[in-house]
Amino acid sequence: MKIVILSGSVYGTAEEVARHAERLLKAAGLEACHKPNLSLDELLAFAPDAVLTVTSTTGMGELPDNLLPLYGELRERLPAVWHGLPGAVLALGDSSYENFCGGGELIRELYAELGLREMQEMLRLDASESVTPESDAEPWLQELVAALKA
Ligand SMILES: Cc1cc2nc3c(=O)[nH]c(=O)nc-3n(C[C@H](O)[C@H](O)[C@H](O)COP(=O)(O)O)c2cc1C
Repeated sequence: MKIVILSGSVYGTAEEVARHAERLLKAAGLEACHKPNLSLDELLAFAPDAVLTVTSTTGMGELPDNLLPLYGELRERLPAVWHGLPGAVLALGDSSYENFCGGGELIRELYAELGLREMQEMLRLDASESVTPESDAEPWLQELVAALKA
């Protein structure tokens, strides 16, 4: 089972969570690949069996700049190869903003356009409530591991 981890981050928090997710998935015996700024060609060459996106939100509910090129390419080309594949979204945000986890919502919409099937409800990590996003994500990630291995 090959799972790709896409990430979008402004200040590095989501990046850390993505790295943590990669370690956790690998420790569970899954072939996880996380590389920031992945191109669409690299992504297609990896031929994932599942897609996890870890992204924060910036601006007014927008995706971080480092995820925009891939997001744009995916929306433009809409590769058909992922139709029916499992996907999951781990969103970081701050509930004091109006568009809480808006970046994650944009990825959910993209998944729907690509035909990716959301395996479990998007996790929303709230920076105004907790300062330990990596450990907060663990139960959700363990649930994901169990579903991927089932
Ligand atoms: C300028 C700015 C705009 C933000 N806009 C939003 C927003 O619209 N919605 C939201 O849920 N969080 C928003 N946030 C909160 C970040 O998504 C949150 O702090 C996140 O943990 C940052 O992760 P990062 O270090 O990976 O960028 C914003 C933060 C900043 C600094």
